[in-house]
Amino acid sequence: MPSLELVLLAALLLVGGGAEATQEHVLFSVIQISSFANQSWAQHQGSGWLGDMQSHGWDSELGTIIFLHSWSKGNFSDEEMIDLELLFRVYFIGFTRETQEYAGQMHFGYPIEVQVRAGCELHPNDTVESFLQAAYGGSHFLSFRDMSWVPAPKGDSRAQSVCDLLNQYEGIRETVHKLLTHTCPRFALGLFDAAKVDYERQVKPEAWLATGPRPAPGRLLLVCHVSGFHPKPVWVMWMRGEQEQQGTQQGDILPHADGTWYLRVTLDVAAREVAGLSCRVRHSSLGNQDIVLHWEQHLSVYLILLAVTVPLMLLVALVLWFKKRCSYQDIP
Ligand SMILES: *[C@@H]1O[C@H](CO)[C@@H](O)[C@H](O)[C@H]1NC(C)=O
Ligand SMILES: *[C@@H]1O[C@H](CO)[C@@H](O)[C@H](O)[C@H]1NC(C)=O
Ligand SMILES: *[C@@H]1O[C@H](CO)[C@@H](O)[C@H](O)[C@H]1NC(C)=O
Repeated sequence: MPSLELVLLAALLLVGGGAEATQEHVLFSVIQISSFANQSWAQHQGSGWLGDMQSHGWDSELGTIIFLHSWSKGNFSDEEMIDLELLFRVYFIGFTRETQEYAGQMHFGYPIEVQVRAGCELHPNDTVESFLQAAYGGSHFLSFRDMSWVPAPKGDSRAQSVCDLLNQYEGIRETVHKLLTHTCPRFALGLFDAAKVDYERQVKPEAWLATGPRPAPGRLLLVCHVSGFHPKPVWVMWMRGEQEQQGTQQGDILPHADGTWYLRVTLDVAAREVAGLSCRVRHSSLGNQDIVLHWEQHLSVYLILLAVTVPLMLLVALVLWFKKRCSYQDIP
């Protein structure tokens, strides 16, 4: 018989193994969108994201971080957050000044649109990938890799000039490198732990059917609305029995203000072929119980409405007819 110690040891090993197996994929990123209308007008938007869930905003008037959730500080102390806030504040001031100063010299015509996405991705195999990419006018312009600024492969000579300029500042390169490879993964892990309740929350979708604008005479646009689900991954398909309908068109998955998601899935179909069609929704919150909405059932609501309204209209017509007859008789 195994000793108690051995059993405990085995239990401990199992626990250890389990924890490793459930280690997850964590992605934290910050996004900057800056617009320069002219020499004297600039506007910045900043945000922080844990996967596809927004965790932070940026108040550009006050130069402060907006913490959108109770867990948005992760496990960082207030002091550490204040340091980061100061760093971003100085960055935005410097970024505005340098852009306005060099725009003319480097032949960037107003308006200037700059987008920056930076962050880190932690893989279950314990590797960390950090990234920083900047776009100018909507196209990839430059990246930060291995301690230096690199122009985009398809960038023009201005991208090279900007990188040459930026690469002269060793202090900035070191700070950016440290933020991406050291601060970011540490913050992302703490944030992921703190956000777990919200991040992993399962909210069931509601689904309903409707018709969209008539695509052509004799055809119908069937619309399946799926709303209020979390997390984001979802599978929605128009079906005939077990047959997936190839013409199914899926829209973008759009966010609701409460952090849940919405999706619209349509099918353009001949009006006489609607019988037997259904919309099928698969989502982690539903387990194996897919939502299946049949078009006939939906249709029957209209039939009931029709069954109520037609006799009602007849009644009204009858009353009006009687009234008219009476008033004719009143005429002497
Ligand atoms: C700069 O752009 C802003 C916003 O479009 C505008 O209100 C302002 O008048 C412009 N200033 C100059 C000097 O052109
Ligand atoms: C770790 O996983 C990522 C993503 O799955 C992969 O790109 C990377 O090559 C892996 N690294 C190692 C060292 O296995
Ligand atoms: C926060 O959590 C991360 C990951 O668990 C850890 O590496 C870090 O030391 C923790 N504390 C601080 C202040 O970052």
